[in-house]
Parts: sequence; structure tokens; C-alpha cells
Amino acid sequence: MSQQAHSGKPLDPSPILALSTAYWDAQTLLTANRMGLFGLLSSEALTLQQIADGLNSQPQACRLLLNACIALQLVSEQDGLYACSELSRAFLAPGSPAYLGDAIRYSDDLYQTWGKLQQALETGQPQMPAQQYTGENEQQTRHFVYGMHNRALGVGRVLVDLLNLEGRRQMIDVGGGPGTYSSLLAQRYPKLHSTVLDLPSVVEIADEIIDSMKMSERVKTRPLDYHHEDFPTGNDVVLISGVFHRETEETCRGFIERARDALEPGGMLVISDIFTDANSQGPRFATLFGLNMMLTAEQGTVHADAAVVNWMEQAGFGQLHRREFPPPMPHRVVYGVKQ
Ligand SMILES: C[S@@+](CC[C@H](N)C(=O)[O-])C[C@H]1O[C@@H](n2cnc3c(N)ncnc32)[C@H](O)[C@@H]1O
Repeated sequence: MSQQAHSGKPLDPSPILALSTAYWDAQTLLTANRMGLFGLLSSEALTLQQIADGLNSQPQACRLLLNACIALQLVSEQDGLYACSELSRAFLAPGSPAYLGDAIRYSDDLYQTWGKLQQALETGQPQMPAQQYTGENEQQTRHFVYGMHNRALGVGRVLVDLLNLEGRRQMIDVGGGPGTYSSLLAQRYPKLHSTVLDLPSVVEIADEIIDSMKMSERVKTRPLDYHHEDFPTGNDVVLISGVFHRETEETCRGFIERARDALEPGGMLVISDIFTDANSQGPRFATLFGLNMMLTAEQGTVHADAAVVNWMEQAGFGQLHRREFPPPMPHRVVYGVKQ
């Protein structure tokens, strides 16, 4: 018997069916990326046998994978020769300036963890401890830090355009990860110096990345555990990006107060993250991101940008602004000035 909506029209179950198999699409991409398919196909078109040999896979199985990748617009085929699609060449071929393969490797590392969503709900505990990808497991730490760098190269360029740091000279980048945001801002503002504060294993990799962006003269790193150590003082910018989603409201409010104390009068606090709308029920990506953070960090969550504006106001910041990044970027930024 068909089900009817309030409008009287028959209800279509397709959205539910599509959601129930969405992991097929994800696993096809993650596996092709992990096995090196896009690197293999980036410079020349290859036959099925050449690809099967290159991936060390069975030809019949490999054909099924390639057909699925064609349907997902990741691979193209002509006269029996397979190549990267325009999309995968731009974003998945190693060496491309817009390469996202490391970020996708980090999503791959999370696949098993998402399978434990029920355990996380029942125990209230993350299913992949944060220490695993911020130091304990060397390979996962590299995927995490380089993944952040891949993303920040795109997102950070938008942030640089949204902010005006003219005349500002000393910034701290709290939980600055790969140092990409600091480097992009220092490239835009030639008088700006920044110190990236993060855990020891992360800043070690950040040094490599900052060096590769040729910014090591003005972007320094310093190992610092933000839960237990003070922020350096005397700054005219504090950037806190991608950190609030790992912390409770109380800790975030504490960071805002500590940022205020680390700023000179007139200094700017910039808080960038994935935030929800005020009612916490959208946008869709932000709500799912909250689950992802619950699975991967002790206090992982997602906050509303409207709440952050209030916290900053109560901590003595003025000239407050709230901006959304252009779609498809799910990021938002809140910034204001110490009164
Ligand atoms: C999602 S990343 C954001 C990185 C960067 N700011 C960005 O937006 O791309 C969160 C960062 O917080 C760092 N972090 C987590 N716990 C920390 C702690 N206790 N002290 C300092 N940094 C920490 C992580 O290592 C990671 O680099």
C-alpha cells in the first residue's frame, strides 16, 4: 500500500534508500584513492590489465571498480583505455595544486570509527581517541595534518579575503595544525608574523609544511598544550580555527577570555569553524560534523556561530561580525575587536 504525504501525494522512499547505501559511494572513492588509482591514471590512459597489475588487483574485480568510478564521474573510458576524469585529475591526482587525497585518506581512517556510532551513543565515548591521530600513530597523524593542509589551502584563501589584517603585526594561531592559515595570511600581509601553537607531533609536521610554503621566516611554531599552558601575550591578532568543535562551551568561553588577555587593546580575535545555525538543526553538513567530532574527540561537538558571538560580547569584544563562507564550503567565521 502506498504511503501518502499530508499533501495527499504519494510519498517517495528514494531519499531513504539512497541514504542507506550512501556508504557504497564513499567506500568506492576511499578505496580507489587508497590503492592509488588516480595517481596511476593521472599521466596516461591505461588498459584494464595495466590497471589491475598496477593496483595488484584481480582484473574482473578491477573492471567492476572502474565501472563504478566511471558512474561516479571519477574515471573516463575510451576505446578500452581508462583515464582520470577532469574532476579526479584536479583533486585526486597527487601533485595537483588542489590535491585533496590526504584529506580523503583521513576520511578513510574514520570509516571504521563511523561503524561504531551506536557504541559512541551508548557510552558517550569517542571511538577513535584523538591522541591516535595527533601523535600516537605516526601515519594517521600525517594523514590528519596533511589532510587539514589540503582543506585549509582552499578554505584559508577565502578566510584571507574575508579578513582585513592591514597594519597588524603579531598573531598567534591557537591549535594552528599545519600552519596553512598562518602562512596564507602572512603571504597576504608582508608585515605579519605568526606563531602556530599546537601539540609537539603536529608542529613537527607543520614545520615541513610552512617551509614548503616558504614562510618559515615569519611563521614559527611552538609546541603548546592549550589545556595546560598559557597563550603568549602581546599580540594584535589571535586566530582560533577548527578548535571549538573539539571543546565544551565552558572551555571555548575560557579560550575567548584567554585570547582577550593575550591581545593588546584593539587586537582582533578570529574564530573560524564549522558552525550550525542558532537552532543547531542545520546546515546538514554541520549537524553530521557534530557526530563526526563526537566520534573522534573527548568533548567533540558542534557549536552555533550565534552562540560564539554572544560569548565574545560577554567577554568584552566589540565590532563583532559573523560571516559564512561561499558554498560548498561549510565554514563560518566570527571576529571582533578587544574593547
Ligand atoms: C581541526 S584542527 C584545526 C587546525 C587548523 N587550525 C585549521 O583550522 O586547519 C584542530 C587542531 O587542534 C589541535 N589540538 C588538539 N588538542 C590540542 C591541545 N590540547 N593543545 C594544542 N592543540 C591541540 C590539533 O592537533 C589540531 O591541529
